[in-house]
Amino acid sequence: MKKKLLSALLSVALVATLLVGCGNNGGGTETTAPADDTQTEAPADSSDEAPAEESGSTTGGGELIGVSMPTKDLQRWNQDGENMKAQLEAAGYEVDLQFASNDIPTQVSQIENMISGGCKLLVIASIEGDSLGTVLQQAKENDIPVIAYDRLIMNTDAVSYYATFDNYLVGQKQGEFIVEQLDLDNAEGPFNLEIVTGDPGDNNVNFFYGGAMDVLQPYIDSGKLVVKSGQVEKADVATANWATDAAQSRFEAIISSYYSDGTNLDVVLASNDSTALGVVNALEANYTGEWPIVTGQDCDVANVKNIVAGKQSMSIFKDTRDLASKVVEMVDAIMKGEDIAGLDTETYDNGTGVIPSYLCEPVFADVNNYKEILIDSGYYAESDLQ
Ligand code: BGC
Repeated sequence: MKKKLLSALLSVALVATLLVGCGNNGGGTETTAPADDTQTEAPADSSDEAPAEESGSTTGGGELIGVSMPTKDLQRWNQDGENMKAQLEAAGYEVDLQFASNDIPTQVSQIENMISGGCKLLVIASIEGDSLGTVLQQAKENDIPVIAYDRLIMNTDAVSYYATFDNYLVGQKQGEFIVEQLDLDNAEGPFNLEIVTGDPGDNNVNFFYGGAMDVLQPYIDSGKLVVKSGQVEKADVATANWATDAAQSRFEAIISSYYSDGTNLDVVLASNDSTALGVVNALEANYTGEWPIVTGQDCDVANVKNIVAGKQSMSIFKDTRDLASKVVEMVDAIMKGEDIAGLDTETYDNGTGVIPSYLCEPVFADVNNYKEILIDSGYYAESDLQ
C-alpha cells in the first residue's frame, strides 16, 4: 500500500470514527496525526487536546493508557492503533501508542517502557501469543490490568479481558461461502481447493482455520473437494507473520507443481486479505486456468479493489471502530472498578483459564454489499477505492 493512500485512508477512517461515534460517548473533536514510518508515537500532550465531553461513561481522568500494536506493515493495525488512540483521548485518557515492527523483543521492550513510564492499563495486540508472559508478570506485580486486543495472549494470568471479533465465525463464514458458491451439496465435483492461513503464533489462526475447516473437512473427506498439493494440516498451510510475499512464494510453488498443466484450481481458502493478496499475485503471474474463488478477511483497500476487479471473491469486514469503542468502554469500566456486561465467558481459554471476552460481529463483504458497508458507513471514501 502506498503511504500517501494509507495516510489519506487513516484520516478518513478517523474522521468517520469521530463523526459517527460508534457507540463511544466521548464525542470530542479530537484529531490525531496519521501514522508515520517510525512505528512509535509519543503520548499526546493533553494540554493541547480538546476536553472530552462530560457524558456517559467515558470520563477518564487523564490516566496514561499503553496501546501496543504488532506492526504498521498491515493496514488494519494502523487503523486499530489510530482508532484506539483517538477514542481513548476523546474519552479523557492519555495514550502511549507503539507499533512493534512485527519484532517480539521490540514489543516486549515497548511494553516494559509502558510499565516503567507509568501506564495504568495496557491494551496489547500481540505479535506472538506466547511471548509476553515474563513482561506481563511485571504488569501484574504493578497492578496494571491488561486487555488482550484482537489476539489472545496465551499462558499468563496477567490478562484481565480479551476484546476481539468472533474469530470462529470468520472462518465459518469463509467455509460456508465456498460451500454455497460451488453448490457442494448438489454439484458433482470434484473441485480443487488450496488452503492458506496465517501465522502459527497467532491464536486467532486456530479459530479462522478451525471455523472454516469444520465446514469444509466433510467435503474433503468425501472427495468432493480435492487438495492436490496435499497441504491441509494447519502447520502446512501457515504463513509466517501473515506476510503477503510468503503466501505468494508458497502459492507460486503450488501453481507450478500442480496447476501448470491446464488443471483448474477452483477455490482458495485464504484466511485473510494479506495472504489473499499473495495468492492473487501468484495467480496473476503464473496461472492460466479459470480464475478460482478466493476468500479473505479485513476488507483492506487493495483487496476491496481486487473484489471490485473480480480477482477476490469475498472478504470479512471487521469494523475496527467498533472494536476500539468497545475497548474504550472496557478501559473506562476497569479504571472505575465497574463490571463489564455482555462478555463471553466460555470460548477463549488462554491456558490459565477462560478470559472474559467481548466478541464484535464480523460482517460478510463482497462486490454486492461493499459500497453499503464500507463507503456508506464512512469507513472508506469512494476515492480510496479507485
Ligand atoms: C487478525 C486479522 C488479521 C491478521 C493479520 C489477525 O490476528 O485478527 O484481522 O488479518 O491478524 O494481521
